Amino acid sequence: MLETPNNAADNFRIEYRGVGKQFANKQSTGDYDEFIIAVKEVDLSVRDGEVVSLIGPSGCGKSTLLNMGSGLYQPSAGEVFVDQQKVDKPNSHVGFMLQKDLLLAWRSIRQNVEFGLEIQGVAASERRNRSSELLEKCRLTGFEEHYPHQLSGGMRQRAALARTLATDPHVLLMDEPFSALDAQTKMILQQDLAETLSSEQKTALFITHDLAESVALSDRVFVMSQRPGTIVEEIDIDLPLRENPMARRHDLQKEVGEYVARLMDLLHVGDMASAVEI
Ligand SMILES: Nc1ncnc2c1ncn2[C@@H]1O[C@H](COP(=O)(O)OP(=O)(O)OP(=O)(O)O)[C@@H](O)[C@H]1O
Ligand SMILES: [Mg+2]
Repeated sequence: MLETPNNAADNFRIEYRGVGKQFANKQSTGDYDEFIIAVKEVDLSVRDGEVVSLIGPSGCGKSTLLNMGSGLYQPSAGEVFVDQQKVDKPNSHVGFMLQKDLLLAWRSIRQNVEFGLEIQGVAASERRNRSSELLEKCRLTGFEEHYPHQLSGGMRQRAALARTLATDPHVLLMDEPFSALDAQTKMILQQDLAETLSSEQKTALFITHDLAESVALSDRVFVMSQRPGTIVEEIDIDLPLRENPMARRHDLQKEVGEYVARLMDLLHVGDMASAVEI
């Protein structure tokens, strides 16, 4: 069933309203609660063409939040809308990249990248052109016919990124898309993604533990508390060059550093007393 929120005029492409999620606790006997509250009372919206990142301590509910945006989990409270439509199942015009790469083990890397295009009924020759182009971009040329288990963790992550981009979705939800990559590949792919997001006016919400990455790539950063996770701060990254994160880092080192320091404070990084794992 489709529902339209009241403030459609705001042109939000992604919107979480009062969202909470709890899971049954498998260890609910004795000293443990019956439920684990992963996230609570999350209000978050992303405008058309905006790139927003989500940071927070490990286990605070970031993936849970993203999985509700992709329709894989249903909220226990509140609602999630993408393009003004309530999300109640996975939707083909939203590209999502999960934290676990979830490549299909029985399909080659090329077949994995072409999977979404196949479902859309795109002709074989066009699928091949598109997958070749993306595999090259993601530096996987020469591995097209390999299977996921034959690739390193970083290569699998690049294949998953290629697969996410293959259908050219306008809204992207990405869970730590660069976490398994070496520093150099990471910067190249960040640069590439940032250029694509900007030139094609895509809307993206992505999770990262890399604070400098969040500042380099985003228009805004949402900071979550420890579990039960909720948004504790929303920071506008008031810097130019979102389409060119290498230049943003290089030319605006001081400003980027100041934002990173602020995020470190908010996450209590270095605060031995609370010893927050990020
Ligand atoms: N399918 C599930 N069933 C039960 N509990 C779950 C499930 N998914 C997540 N959780 C619990 O919800 C909490 C939040 O998990 P989540 O994966 O969202 O954290 P995260 O912020 O993404 O952490 P990380 O940064 O380590 O990836 C954790 O306590 C986790 O055990
Ligand atoms: Mg996660």
